[in-house]
Amino acid sequence: MSKSVIVEAFGGPDVLHVREVPAPHAGTGQLRIKTAAAGLNPMDWLIIADDALGAEFGVHPPTGFGYDFAGVVDEVGDSVTGFKVGDRVFGGAMSRAAAEFILADPATDEVRHLPDSLDFVTASTLPVAARTAAAVIDTMGITHGDTVLVGGAAGGVGVLTVQLAQLAGARVIGTGSQDSFEFLLGLGVEPVQYGPGLIDRVRAIAPGGISAAADLFGSETAHVALALGVPGSRVATIATQDPGLAATKTGAANSAADALTTIAALVADGTLTVSIAAQYPLRDIRSAVTRQASRHLRGKIVLTV
Ligand SMILES: NC(=O)c1ccc[n+]([C@@H]2O[C@H](COP(=O)([O-])OP(=O)(O)OC[C@H]3O[C@@H](n4cnc5c(N)ncnc54)[C@H](OP(=O)(O)O)[C@@H]3O)[C@@H](O)[C@H]2O)c1
Repeated sequence: MSKSVIVEAFGGPDVLHVREVPAPHAGTGQLRIKTAAAGLNPMDWLIIADDALGAEFGVHPPTGFGYDFAGVVDEVGDSVTGFKVGDRVFGGAMSRAAAEFILADPATDEVRHLPDSLDFVTASTLPVAARTAAAVIDTMGITHGDTVLVGGAAGGVGVLTVQLAQLAGARVIGTGSQDSFEFLLGLGVEPVQYGPGLIDRVRAIAPGGISAAADLFGSETAHVALALGVPGSRVATIATQDPGLAATKTGAANSAADALTTIAALVADGTLTVSIAAQYPLRDIRSAVTRQASRHLRGKIVLTV
Protein backbone atom coordinates (compact mmCIF):
# COMPACT_ATOMS: atom_id res chain seq x y z
CA MET A 1 0.00 0.00 0.00
CA SER A 2 1.05 3.62 -0.44
CA LYS A 3 -0.29 7.07 0.32
CA SER A 4 -1.95 9.21 -2.32
CA VAL A 5 -4.01 12.39 -2.27
CA ILE A 6 -7.40 11.54 -3.71
CA VAL A 7 -9.89 14.13 -4.99
CA GLU A 8 -13.29 12.66 -4.06
CA ALA A 9 -15.46 15.20 -5.94
CA PHE A 10 -15.17 18.67 -7.46
CA GLY A 11 -14.84 21.27 -4.73
CA GLY A 12 -12.50 23.09 -2.35
CA PRO A 13 -9.80 21.70 -0.02
CA ASP A 14 -12.36 19.53 1.82
CA VAL A 15 -12.60 17.15 -1.14
CA LEU A 16 -8.92 16.23 -0.72
CA HIS A 17 -8.16 13.06 1.26
CA VAL A 18 -4.91 11.24 1.94
CA ARG A 19 -5.77 7.59 1.26
CA GLU A 20 -3.90 4.28 1.47
CA VAL A 21 -4.06 2.83 -2.04
CA PRO A 22 -2.38 -0.22 -3.60
CA ALA A 23 1.16 0.73 -4.63
CA PRO A 24 1.21 1.06 -8.45
CA HIS A 25 3.81 -0.75 -10.57
CA ALA A 26 5.47 0.39 -13.77
CA GLY A 27 3.88 -1.10 -16.88
CA THR A 28 5.33 -1.11 -20.37
CA GLY A 29 6.64 2.36 -21.23
CA GLN A 30 6.29 3.61 -17.67
CA LEU A 31 8.52 4.70 -14.83
CA ARG A 32 7.57 4.40 -11.20
CA ILE A 33 8.90 7.39 -9.30
CA LYS A 34 9.17 7.48 -5.52
CA THR A 35 8.11 11.04 -4.87
CA ALA A 36 10.13 13.25 -2.56
CA ALA A 37 8.36 16.58 -3.12
CA ALA A 38 5.40 17.99 -5.04
CA GLY A 39 5.17 21.71 -5.76
CA LEU A 40 1.72 23.29 -5.86
CA ASN A 41 0.33 25.60 -8.53
CA PRO A 42 -2.98 27.51 -8.62
CA MET A 43 -3.97 25.25 -11.53
CA ASP A 44 -4.00 22.24 -9.17
CA TRP A 45 -6.91 23.49 -7.10
CA LEU A 46 -8.59 25.56 -9.84
CA ILE A 47 -9.21 22.44 -11.92
CA ILE A 48 -10.77 20.51 -9.04
CA ALA A 49 -12.92 23.46 -8.00
CA ASP A 50 -14.77 23.76 -11.29
CA ASP A 51 -16.11 20.75 -13.19
CA ALA A 52 -16.11 22.53 -16.58
CA LEU A 53 -12.47 23.56 -16.16
CA GLY A 54 -11.62 20.13 -14.79
CA ALA A 55 -13.14 18.48 -17.85
CA GLU A 56 -10.91 20.65 -20.09
CA PHE A 57 -7.91 19.11 -18.32
CA GLY A 58 -9.36 15.59 -18.34
CA VAL A 59 -9.94 15.64 -14.58
CA HIS A 60 -12.80 13.41 -13.41
CA PRO A 61 -13.03 12.59 -9.68
CA PRO A 62 -12.24 10.32 -8.01
CA THR A 63 -8.72 11.08 -9.15
CA GLY A 64 -5.28 12.00 -7.88
CA PHE A 65 -3.99 15.53 -7.34
CA GLY A 66 -1.08 17.77 -8.27
CA TYR A 67 1.30 18.16 -11.19
CA ASP A 68 4.86 19.22 -10.31
CA PHE A 69 7.03 16.52 -8.70
CA ALA A 70 10.59 15.51 -7.90
CA GLY A 71 11.79 12.09 -6.78
CA VAL A 72 13.72 8.95 -7.63
CA VAL A 73 12.99 6.33 -10.29
CA ASP A 74 12.42 3.03 -8.49
CA GLU A 75 10.90 0.85 -11.26
CA VAL A 76 11.50 0.97 -15.00
CA GLY A 77 8.94 -0.66 -17.29
CA ASP A 78 9.72 -2.55 -20.49
CA SER A 79 10.74 -0.46 -23.51
CA VAL A 80 11.65 2.65 -21.48
CA THR A 81 15.01 4.06 -22.50
CA GLY A 82 17.10 6.83 -20.99
CA PHE A 83 16.16 6.16 -17.34
CA LYS A 84 17.32 3.62 -14.75
CA VAL A 85 16.44 2.77 -11.17
CA GLY A 86 18.01 5.35 -8.88
CA ASP A 87 17.85 8.27 -11.30
CA ARG A 88 16.85 11.55 -9.66
CA VAL A 89 14.09 13.11 -11.76
CA PHE A 90 11.55 15.94 -11.77
CA GLY A 91 8.73 17.03 -14.00
CA GLY A 92 4.97 17.05 -14.34
CA ALA A 93 2.33 14.35 -13.95
CA MET A 94 -1.25 15.57 -14.30
CA SER A 95 -3.41 14.66 -11.27
CA ARG A 96 -0.77 12.28 -9.86
CA ALA A 97 2.04 14.23 -8.21
CA ALA A 98 0.77 14.35 -4.61
CA ALA A 99 1.41 10.68 -3.84
CA GLU A 100 4.14 8.40 -2.53
CA PHE A 101 4.52 6.82 -5.97
CA ILE A 102 3.86 8.27 -9.42
CA LEU A 103 3.59 6.33 -12.66
CA ALA A 104 4.86 8.44 -15.55
CA ASP A 105 5.38 7.75 -19.22
CA PRO A 106 8.47 9.66 -20.35
CA ALA A 107 7.09 9.66 -23.92
CA THR A 108 4.03 11.68 -22.94
CA ASP A 109 4.72 13.07 -19.45
CA GLU A 110 7.40 15.60 -18.67
CA VAL A 111 10.19 13.70 -16.90
CA ARG A 112 13.67 15.23 -16.73
CA HIS A 113 16.90 14.24 -15.02
CA LEU A 114 17.68 16.41 -12.03
CA PRO A 115 20.97 18.33 -11.96
CA ASP A 116 23.18 16.86 -9.18
CA SER A 117 23.24 19.99 -7.08
CA LEU A 118 19.49 20.60 -7.17
CA ASP A 119 17.52 19.29 -4.17
CA PHE A 120 14.08 17.72 -4.55
CA VAL A 121 12.11 20.49 -2.86
CA THR A 122 13.61 23.18 -5.07
CA ALA A 123 13.21 21.07 -8.21
CA SER A 124 9.54 20.41 -7.46
CA THR A 125 8.81 24.14 -7.67
CA LEU A 126 10.04 24.45 -11.23
CA PRO A 127 8.13 22.56 -13.92
CA VAL A 128 5.05 24.77 -14.40
CA ALA A 129 6.50 28.02 -13.08
CA ALA A 130 9.76 27.82 -15.01
CA ARG A 131 8.14 26.94 -18.32
CA THR A 132 5.56 29.68 -17.84
CA ALA A 133 8.17 32.30 -16.93
CA ALA A 134 10.22 31.28 -19.98
CA ALA A 135 7.19 31.67 -22.25
CA VAL A 136 6.42 35.08 -20.75
CA ILE A 137 10.00 36.27 -21.30
CA ASP A 138 9.93 35.01 -24.91
CA THR A 139 6.65 36.85 -25.55
CA MET A 140 8.00 40.12 -24.13
CA GLY A 141 11.21 39.76 -26.14
CA ILE A 142 13.34 41.30 -23.41
CA THR A 143 16.64 42.88 -24.38
CA HIS A 144 19.20 45.00 -22.56
CA GLY A 145 17.80 48.38 -21.55
CA ASP A 146 14.14 47.38 -21.38
CA THR A 147 12.03 48.61 -18.49
CA VAL A 148 9.56 45.85 -17.63
CA LEU A 149 6.45 45.94 -15.48
CA VAL A 150 5.58 42.57 -13.92
CA GLY A 151 2.16 42.18 -12.27
CA GLY A 152 2.07 39.67 -9.40
CA ALA A 153 5.86 39.72 -9.24
CA ALA A 154 6.26 37.90 -5.90
CA GLY A 155 4.28 34.77 -6.85
CA GLY A 156 5.50 31.42 -8.08
CA VAL A 157 5.78 32.49 -11.71
CA GLY A 158 6.75 36.06 -10.80
CA VAL A 159 9.90 35.19 -8.86
CA LEU A 160 11.38 33.46 -11.91
CA THR A 161 10.02 35.98 -14.44
CA VAL A 162 11.61 38.98 -12.73
CA GLN A 163 14.99 37.24 -12.48
CA LEU A 164 14.94 36.10 -16.11
CA ALA A 165 14.08 39.65 -17.19
CA GLN A 166 16.98 41.00 -15.13
CA LEU A 167 19.28 38.38 -16.61
CA ALA A 168 18.31 39.64 -20.06
CA GLY A 169 19.35 43.14 -19.01
CA ALA A 170 16.05 44.72 -18.02
CA ARG A 171 15.12 47.09 -15.23
CA VAL A 172 12.18 45.41 -13.46
CA ILE A 173 9.26 47.06 -11.71
CA GLY A 174 6.97 44.58 -9.98
CA THR A 175 3.50 44.86 -8.48
CA GLY A 176 2.70 43.43 -5.07
CA SER A 177 1.07 44.30 -1.78
CA GLN A 178 3.06 46.32 0.76
CA ASP A 179 3.77 43.01 2.51
CA SER A 180 5.77 41.87 -0.52
CA PHE A 181 7.84 45.03 -0.98
CA GLU A 182 10.86 43.93 1.08
CA PHE A 183 10.88 40.56 -0.64
CA LEU A 184 10.75 42.20 -4.08
CA LEU A 185 13.50 44.65 -3.16
CA GLY A 186 15.59 41.63 -2.17
CA LEU A 187 15.17 40.33 -5.71
CA GLY A 188 16.33 43.68 -7.13
CA VAL A 189 12.78 44.56 -8.19
CA GLU A 190 11.32 48.04 -7.74
CA PRO A 191 7.97 47.41 -6.03
CA VAL A 192 4.69 49.20 -6.71
CA GLN A 193 1.35 48.48 -5.06
CA TYR A 194 -1.21 46.90 -7.36
CA GLY A 195 -4.81 48.23 -7.41
CA PRO A 196 -6.47 51.54 -8.29
CA GLY A 197 -4.00 54.27 -9.30
CA LEU A 198 -1.39 51.79 -10.54
CA ILE A 199 -0.86 53.73 -13.75
CA ASP A 200 0.11 56.88 -11.83
CA ARG A 201 2.49 54.97 -9.59
CA VAL A 202 4.15 53.40 -12.63
CA ARG A 203 4.44 56.80 -14.31
CA ALA A 204 6.05 58.18 -11.15
CA ILE A 205 8.61 55.38 -10.83
CA ALA A 206 9.34 55.20 -14.58
CA PRO A 207 8.87 58.67 -16.05
CA GLY A 208 10.66 57.51 -19.20
CA GLY A 209 8.00 54.84 -19.70
CA ILE A 210 7.99 51.06 -19.75
CA SER A 211 8.77 48.95 -22.79
CA ALA A 212 7.26 45.55 -21.95
CA ALA A 213 4.98 43.99 -19.36
CA ALA A 214 3.88 40.66 -17.95
CA ASP A 215 0.56 40.31 -16.17
CA LEU A 216 0.80 37.23 -13.96
CA PHE A 217 -2.35 37.79 -11.96
CA GLY A 218 -5.26 39.13 -14.04
CA SER A 219 -5.45 42.01 -16.47
CA GLU A 220 -4.75 45.17 -14.43
CA THR A 221 -1.05 45.28 -15.28
CA ALA A 222 -1.78 44.56 -18.94
CA HIS A 223 -4.33 47.40 -19.13
CA VAL A 224 -1.83 49.79 -17.52
CA ALA A 225 0.96 48.76 -19.90
CA LEU A 226 -1.27 49.16 -22.96
CA ALA A 227 -2.46 52.56 -21.72
CA LEU A 228 1.20 53.58 -21.34
CA GLY A 229 1.82 52.76 -24.99
CA VAL A 230 3.43 49.32 -24.77
CA PRO A 231 2.48 47.36 -27.90
CA GLY A 232 0.22 44.36 -27.23
CA SER A 233 2.85 42.08 -28.72
CA ARG A 234 5.10 42.93 -25.75
CA VAL A 235 2.41 42.60 -23.08
CA ALA A 236 2.22 38.97 -21.93
CA THR A 237 -0.74 37.60 -19.96
CA ILE A 238 -1.12 34.14 -18.43
CA ALA A 239 -4.16 34.38 -16.19
CA THR A 240 -6.95 36.41 -17.75
CA GLN A 241 -10.08 35.62 -19.70
CA ASP A 242 -10.53 39.34 -20.61
CA PRO A 243 -11.68 38.91 -24.23
CA GLY A 244 -11.09 42.48 -25.44
CA LEU A 245 -7.55 42.76 -24.11
CA ALA A 246 -5.04 43.62 -26.84
CA ALA A 247 -2.24 41.76 -25.06
CA THR A 248 -0.58 38.42 -25.90
CA LYS A 249 -1.79 35.34 -24.06
CA THR A 250 0.87 32.79 -23.31
CA GLY A 251 1.58 30.01 -20.84
CA ALA A 252 3.63 26.95 -19.98
CA ALA A 253 2.49 25.16 -23.14
CA ASN A 254 4.14 27.87 -25.26
CA SER A 255 7.60 27.47 -23.75
CA ALA A 256 10.59 26.22 -25.69
CA ALA A 257 11.23 22.46 -25.39
CA ASP A 258 14.42 23.02 -23.39
CA ALA A 259 13.03 25.76 -21.11
CA LEU A 260 12.72 23.59 -18.00
CA THR A 261 16.20 22.07 -18.21
CA THR A 262 17.76 25.44 -19.01
CA ILE A 263 16.14 27.15 -16.03
CA ALA A 264 16.86 24.21 -13.72
CA ALA A 265 20.53 24.51 -14.65
CA LEU A 266 20.45 28.23 -13.85
CA VAL A 267 18.91 27.47 -10.45
CA ALA A 268 21.44 24.68 -9.85
CA ASP A 269 24.41 26.97 -10.52
CA GLY A 270 22.98 29.76 -8.36
CA THR A 271 22.23 32.20 -11.18
CA LEU A 272 18.52 32.10 -10.31
CA THR A 273 16.91 31.86 -6.89
CA VAL A 274 13.77 29.96 -5.97
CA SER A 275 11.59 31.08 -3.09
CA ILE A 276 9.85 28.44 -0.97
CA ALA A 277 7.05 30.18 0.94
CA ALA A 278 6.21 27.05 2.97
CA GLN A 279 6.53 23.25 3.08
CA TYR A 280 3.81 20.90 4.30
CA PRO A 281 3.86 17.12 4.80
CA LEU A 282 1.50 15.25 2.48
CA ARG A 283 -0.96 14.63 5.32
CA ASP A 284 -1.51 18.41 5.58
CA ILE A 285 -2.66 18.67 1.98
CA ARG A 286 -5.74 20.72 2.87
CA SER A 287 -3.71 23.31 4.77
CA ALA A 288 -1.20 23.49 1.92
CA VAL A 289 -3.91 24.08 -0.67
CA THR A 290 -5.71 26.59 1.54
CA ARG A 291 -2.48 28.53 1.89
CA GLN A 292 -1.77 28.35 -1.85
CA ALA A 293 -5.31 29.52 -2.61
CA SER A 294 -4.82 32.63 -0.46
CA ARG A 295 -2.94 34.04 -3.47
CA HIS A 296 -0.67 36.08 -1.21
CA LEU A 297 2.50 34.05 -1.41
CA ARG A 298 6.11 34.92 -1.87
CA GLY A 299 7.17 32.01 -4.01
CA LYS A 300 5.98 28.44 -3.86
CA ILE A 301 4.23 25.95 -1.58
CA VAL A 302 5.75 22.46 -1.54
CA LEU A 303 4.38 19.15 -0.24
CA THR A 304 7.03 16.83 1.15
CA VAL A 305 6.28 13.15 0.74
N1 LIG B 1 -1.22 29.87 -18.52
C1 LIG B 1 -0.36 29.08 -17.88
O1 LIG B 1 0.28 28.19 -18.43
C2 LIG B 1 -0.16 29.33 -16.42
C3 LIG B 1 0.92 28.71 -15.77
C4 LIG B 1 1.15 29.00 -14.44
C5 LIG B 1 0.28 29.84 -13.76
N2 LIG B 1 -0.79 30.36 -14.41
C6 LIG B 1 -1.70 31.27 -13.72
O2 LIG B 1 -0.96 32.45 -13.46
C7 LIG B 1 -1.30 32.97 -12.20
C8 LIG B 1 -0.03 33.13 -11.38
O3 LIG B 1 0.47 31.87 -10.99
P1 LIG B 1 1.45 31.79 -9.74
O4 LIG B 1 1.81 30.38 -9.55
O5 LIG B 1 2.52 32.82 -9.85
O6 LIG B 1 0.41 32.26 -8.59
P2 LIG B 1 0.69 32.63 -7.09
O7 LIG B 1 2.03 32.17 -6.67
O8 LIG B 1 -0.49 32.18 -6.33
O9 LIG B 1 0.69 34.22 -7.12
C9 LIG B 1 0.68 34.87 -5.89
C10 LIG B 1 1.04 36.32 -6.10
O10 LIG B 1 -0.07 37.05 -6.62
C11 LIG B 1 0.00 38.35 -6.06
N3 LIG B 1 -1.29 39.00 -6.06
C12 LIG B 1 -2.35 38.77 -5.23
N4 LIG B 1 -3.36 39.60 -5.54
C13 LIG B 1 -2.94 40.37 -6.58
C14 LIG B 1 -3.54 41.40 -7.35
N5 LIG B 1 -4.78 41.83 -7.11
N6 LIG B 1 -2.80 41.94 -8.35
C15 LIG B 1 -1.54 41.54 -8.62
N7 LIG B 1 -0.93 40.56 -7.91
C16 LIG B 1 -1.62 39.99 -6.91
C17 LIG B 1 0.47 38.13 -4.65
O11 LIG B 1 1.12 39.31 -4.19
P3 LIG B 1 0.89 39.77 -2.66
O12 LIG B 1 1.16 38.57 -1.81
O13 LIG B 1 1.88 40.84 -2.46
O14 LIG B 1 -0.55 40.20 -2.58
C18 LIG B 1 1.39 36.94 -4.76
O15 LIG B 1 2.76 37.29 -4.80
C19 LIG B 1 -2.36 32.04 -11.61
O16 LIG B 1 -3.63 32.55 -11.91
C20 LIG B 1 -2.13 30.75 -12.37
O17 LIG B 1 -3.31 29.96 -12.46
C21 LIG B 1 -1.02 30.16 -15.72
